[in-house]
Amino acid sequence: MKTPLALVPPMGWNSWNSFGWNINDELIRSTADLFVESGLRDAGYEYIIIDDCWSEKQRDEKGRLVPDRNKFPGGMKAVADYVHSKGLKFGMYSCAGTHTCAGHPGSFEHEFTDAETFAEWGVDYLKYDYCYKPLAADGANLYRRMSMALRSCGRDILFSACNWGADNVYDWIRSSGAQMFRSTGDIQDNWFNIKGIMESQIDKSPYSGNFCHNDMDMLVVGMHGNSHNTEVLGGVVGGCTDTEYKTHFAFWAMMAAPLIIGCDVRNMTDVTAEILMNRDIISIDRDMECRAPYVIRQWNNPDNVFALVRPLSTGEYAIGLFNLSDKKAEMSLQFYDIGLPVSSGRGLELYDCYVHAAAGVFTERYVTQLESHDCAVFRAKPVKL
Ligand code: GLA
Repeated sequence: MKTPLALVPPMGWNSWNSFGWNINDELIRSTADLFVESGLRDAGYEYIIIDDCWSEKQRDEKGRLVPDRNKFPGGMKAVADYVHSKGLKFGMYSCAGTHTCAGHPGSFEHEFTDAETFAEWGVDYLKYDYCYKPLAADGANLYRRMSMALRSCGRDILFSACNWGADNVYDWIRSSGAQMFRSTGDIQDNWFNIKGIMESQIDKSPYSGNFCHNDMDMLVVGMHGNSHNTEVLGGVVGGCTDTEYKTHFAFWAMMAAPLIIGCDVRNMTDVTAEILMNRDIISIDRDMECRAPYVIRQWNNPDNVFALVRPLSTGEYAIGLFNLSDKKAEMSLQFYDIGLPVSSGRGLELYDCYVHAAAGVFTERYVTQLESHDCAVFRAKPVKL
């Protein structure tokens, strides 16, 4: 039996956050090279995805999409072949509406032709946006259509739906056949925006799982204010501290979200590389069972300080402790609250996913002080005392 796509959350890179419309053949090839040289590929990052603005503004006389002749003079098949030659997979972008968000041709009423074109080019992943959807058209139906077009195009193409959480997407997206779905508006490279995404998704855990993952948008880890989009926040995109990037990454992993890098990987700092390639965190994100976490809030600081707890397929639990507040704060995880009363005669053996070493055996509770916007992540094993 063939393994279905997206058993666990996909990992990769997407051009939009850093480059917007400023994309070309050379950028994609050099990013693929860097994936190999920097170790990103070996850490699990697999898809190199071209976002919006890759096509000419008009279809050809047969109604087919045409790659921008200046940006991709050799066509898309050549780019796909190059990406594949590096042991990676190739992703592209289209839209359920008549036009993409940046005004290029969308796939509305061209779904089956476009799926066939993508298959011919060697595409392995399609991000599918929601701009310029005819008002009278039904969104759920348009995602079902493209899903069917991809599933019958003769090539395995992962379907990454992107309707920003609109139209009760949680209720219908899994049954459409999509492998992941965007649940939020566009992420921005600043803490305020990241925190808003975290807060909006924390109670959406029940909707994610194997083969259809909640995509909380691409990572901004390592962007340090270098967004293509300078119109955000009155001209200042902002950027985050490395602590904030660490917490952003850990939260996405605890939620079992797709990990799609958005920074320019050709200029990663050592700290960015360490955050993105932390294998202990990645293995939590991609745990085979893909269980979403439950939330245990700090009793005296419930809005900003909490634990996310997830059973893993190894018999362990992943525990993420988060402090989203602007001050240092205590987080005390009472083991009773995660299902381990003192009367069990058991404690938790903790492994620290940032120190990459055992942290000891704890009974009744684990208490720590978290710096502002910081987190701690453990694998925990219930053990007899
Ligand atoms: C929308 C999407 C973004 C990006 C842009 C491209 O805003 O949500 O992720 O794909 O369109 O125009």
